[in-house]
Amino acid sequence: MPTSDIALAIIGGTGLYQFDGLQDIETHQPVTHYGALSGPVRVGTLAGCRVAFLARHGEGHSVPPHKVNYRANLAALQALGATCVLALNTVGGITESFGPRVLACPDQLIDYTWGRISTLCEEEGTEVLHVDFGEPYTLSLRARVLEAARTAGVALVDGGCYGATQGPRLETRAEIARMRRDGCDLVGMTGMPEAGLARELGLDYACLAIVANWAAGAGPQIDEVITLQDVLENVEAASSGLPALVTQMLSG
Ligand code: HPA
Repeated sequence: MPTSDIALAIIGGTGLYQFDGLQDIETHQPVTHYGALSGPVRVGTLAGCRVAFLARHGEGHSVPPHKVNYRANLAALQALGATCVLALNTVGGITESFGPRVLACPDQLIDYTWGRISTLCEEEGTEVLHVDFGEPYTLSLRARVLEAARTAGVALVDGGCYGATQGPRLETRAEIARMRRDGCDLVGMTGMPEAGLARELGLDYACLAIVANWAAGAGPQIDEVITLQDVLENVEAASSGLPALVTQMLSG
């Protein structure tokens, strides 16, 4: 059942299992036609608006990227009344402007994932959709995110191409070199099929990418080993501006 007027739904990625600043939180455990969600949806108040938060990997980080029920997550947020989704994605940086602790709002993506249910038209008998996806992120929502970041004084890179890989392992240096040649600036494991499904559902959707590490071979030290501890520390540091950014988005 819709909880009236959810102004924004936020999906948190690795290292982001709750959203600081949400108050008067209600917990929802919706059941969907597509099966179980990653976990409960927390709906709270921020800047006088109702905001829904869902941890993509579950609150205990128990759902790997290829097992996330992207359809259930998005359909549940929509059923609760959300029309607008801000996806927080922890990523590796590939090109120069996207080093650790950078926040970016990508404008393109390339899908390297495989074997994931990537459409609502999976079941026989459902209407086949061929949604336009030339702009994978909703332009008006990206513009709101960028404007809010400027007003709130939160540094945010405008643009970049997100490459979605299968995971859960990280990439080889050769894979990252190929992705760089393909035009990717960022690499993550959850950008797809989430963005495509959001388009099929008619949800506004934008990605706020949090760079946790240089992707394999992309940083100044070519043989650097990526550790979970570095990833989590960098996500925590880079996320400190998110409550101000989202508050500004809701107030603007
Ligand atoms: N590759 C893929 N996904 C990621 C990375 C990475 O280097 N860092 C955080 N998520």
